[in-house]
Amino acid sequence: MTHTLLRGRLLSFLRSPQSLTDTESYLYESDGGLLVENGLIVASGPYDKVRAEAPADTLTIDHRPHLLMPGFIDTHLHFPQMQVIASYAANLLEWLNTYTFPEECRFVESAHAQKIATHFYDELIRHGTTTAVAYCSVHKTSADAFFGEAMRRNMRMVGGKVMMDRNAPQGLLDTPQMGYDETRQVISDWHGKGRNHVAITPRFAITSTPAQMEATQALAREFPDLHIQTHLSENHDEIKYTCELYPEAIDYTDIYARYGLLGDRTLFGHCIHLSEREADAMSDAGAVAVHCPTSNLFLGSGLFPLKALARREKPVRIGVATDIGGGSSYSMLRTMDEAYKIQQLLGERLNPLESYYLMTLGNAQSLALADRIGTLEAGTDADIVVLNAAATPAMALKMDVVKTLPEELFLLQTMGDDRAIVETYVAGVAAKSAI
Ligand code: GUN
Ligand code: ZN
Repeated sequence: MTHTLLRGRLLSFLRSPQSLTDTESYLYESDGGLLVENGLIVASGPYDKVRAEAPADTLTIDHRPHLLMPGFIDTHLHFPQMQVIASYAANLLEWLNTYTFPEECRFVESAHAQKIATHFYDELIRHGTTTAVAYCSVHKTSADAFFGEAMRRNMRMVGGKVMMDRNAPQGLLDTPQMGYDETRQVISDWHGKGRNHVAITPRFAITSTPAQMEATQALAREFPDLHIQTHLSENHDEIKYTCELYPEAIDYTDIYARYGLLGDRTLFGHCIHLSEREADAMSDAGAVAVHCPTSNLFLGSGLFPLKALARREKPVRIGVATDIGGGSSYSMLRTMDEAYKIQQLLGERLNPLESYYLMTLGNAQSLALADRIGTLEAGTDADIVVLNAAATPAMALKMDVVKTLPEELFLLQTMGDDRAIVETYVAGVAAKSAI
């Protein structure tokens, strides 16, 4: 078996950085090496040391002066919405009804789902994202295309067949029984196959009847290790309508709690307008609020109080994500640039170390997968991104005056996109250059 040794500047996080000077929160190696074998990082550290201990037949790939980081993780996006991006709508509910639901109907066709799956993974890899958590459409065909293509590319992906049985076009509805049966089938066909993880995926309370929420609860009980994903508190009209549909619940979060869906494996997209009670309940349950900044700005949904939620006496766990196609970029760099601006508007500071922690280890922790991804530690998956902060003439010009690592990271976040991704390694194999 041949070994590959990647050489470059290594950056990975150990925990959430408390400030720009919190150098204990990360590992930085100015001339580092990552030895890769069989899809795993088997040694990580100073280049000379890793080189000296590597087998004789090791092939070295020299990425200096670029940065090597754990591949980016996107904790919320919609696989069937690649052609929904850039749809002109006044707000979430108009956007869903006018563009998104009709588009998702097309995923009943396997050929269409397969075509989009190819583009989907190409785009993730182009942008340095090696793991993503996706909603498929209601159709099992979409989940089959999503997981089949992930397996072909050997990517660690999380996804689920959406369950929805009301308030959408006929072509996009299942029933409580169908949603339950097909989700079970998707689990048995795909969970644990290759690097696939299946997530239990009720779209949101508006599109699920109480009977479907009960079926979802049954799935969550039967498969307690699976992730659960849904949407929560994104838009004021959505919140009002949801609470009218579930009058017995005290608030939106309580609806999910009543059906046993508020737990530490649950990823709630958006969570922009939570009350103090809801934030307490999220914190007590260990549930994750997934911030989707480009989507929140694009749909005019609101300003997510990331810093306020994180520093509460009862802090809320936070993930970050693109939310394609409400979101407007596949790039986690562009995503964190918008996250930064949202905190600016709220009078808060999001420092660049925190941003890169969130895209890598933070998101891996949100998924309880930090033993496999989001790190460069020996023994973990060799999912790696290579970043160039001088990728464009304007970035190169600014790089001339950049002196510190946080400044370089901030430049990459502020001006970077797919052009700054030199290479994306998936399980140790160069995937971007192979597209
Ligand atoms: N809420 C329910 N479905 C969706 C969706 O597809 N996108 C967004 N942004 N919010 C939702
Ligand atoms: Zn979403």
